[in-house]
Amino acid sequence: MQDFKDISGTMAAEIRKAAALLKQGELVAFPTETVYGLGADATSDIAVAKIFAAKGRPDFNPLIVHMADHASMDKLVRFNETATALAERFWPGAMTLVLPRRENCPVSRLASAGLDTLAVRMPAHPLALALLEQCGKPIAAPSANPSGGISPTTADHVRRGLGGKVAAILDGGPCPVGVESTVIGFDGDQAVLLRPGGLAREDIETITGPMIVATEQSAISSPGMLQSHYAPGLPVRLNAVSADKDEAWLGFGKNDMATLNLSPSGDVVEAAANLFAMLHQLDCDKYRAIAVAPIPDKGLGLAINDRLRRAAAPRTITKET
Ligand code: TXA
Ligand code: MG
Repeated sequence: MQDFKDISGTMAAEIRKAAALLKQGELVAFPTETVYGLGADATSDIAVAKIFAAKGRPDFNPLIVHMADHASMDKLVRFNETATALAERFWPGAMTLVLPRRENCPVSRLASAGLDTLAVRMPAHPLALALLEQCGKPIAAPSANPSGGISPTTADHVRRGLGGKVAAILDGGPCPVGVESTVIGFDGDQAVLLRPGGLAREDIETITGPMIVATEQSAISSPGMLQSHYAPGLPVRLNAVSADKDEAWLGFGKNDMATLNLSPSGDVVEAAANLFAMLHQLDCDKYRAIAVAPIPDKGLGLAINDRLRRAAAPRTITKET
């Protein structure tokens, strides 16, 4: 990530302008450490509705609300003890908590898609934090891609996917983590893994103990966990130990034949950071399909394999997010 410690000059002016646009109910795409978000004032029904319209997203899929500090989030949702411990340990960072809405929660019901819960996150990217502070409002932000497509990890991905539909795009360079946040819900005090993501399950479990993993059949589940998702235009073939004719081969570990390599040294953190950008790059008419090498299910490998399974799932099922 570029060093944004002293945000000044042009970037400071861009952030002020972006914050003003958000306050006026406009859509602004901004970088987070995970992926670029498509932000809108979460307290405005109309602004939130614009997100769903721009993405072509089914409105039953709820959004994550972003804020720059834990205390402000406490006004929106009720933290339990485990959630508080998680927030203190991992925020700002690639972790989203799904918690009960407070009765007087000012966030649009549309952002919760009719549920009594709200997903909240404090992102770690300095530009995101500066924007949130400047704006002073909870910002709803899904990944800034058309529904069902690959998540954006550069400003250029956002421009290509949603260019005409946003009032501004803050360019913070490539997102350092590269996969979306880990989403955690609660069954009482018991933590439930709703979506594996940029914070490794193993790290979370140092605070929560063993988590339950949500499935599509679970009582608590994440509406965004539909089968076909994060999908490039081309078909995706998993666990490929070689590439067929006309296939692009996305490698992992030492591989001289790969078209692109997620991490030649076999590092899952590096692979996560490269995943969506490389899928974007290979998704072109030079190839018939994208074959992806096997990736270990350890650390961020869990999130990578989750996204790849959805990218490879049959496309007849409604896509979303
Ligand atoms: O890293 C990220 O999480 C990015 C950046 C921009 O923060 N955002 C992102 O948002 O990935 P989105 O909308 O693409 O994914 C949100 C996920 C979905 O799987 C959704 O179903 C789940 O969070 N979610 C949101 N609110 C929920 C709720 N109340 N209950 C259960 N799941 C919820
Ligand atoms: Mg998404």
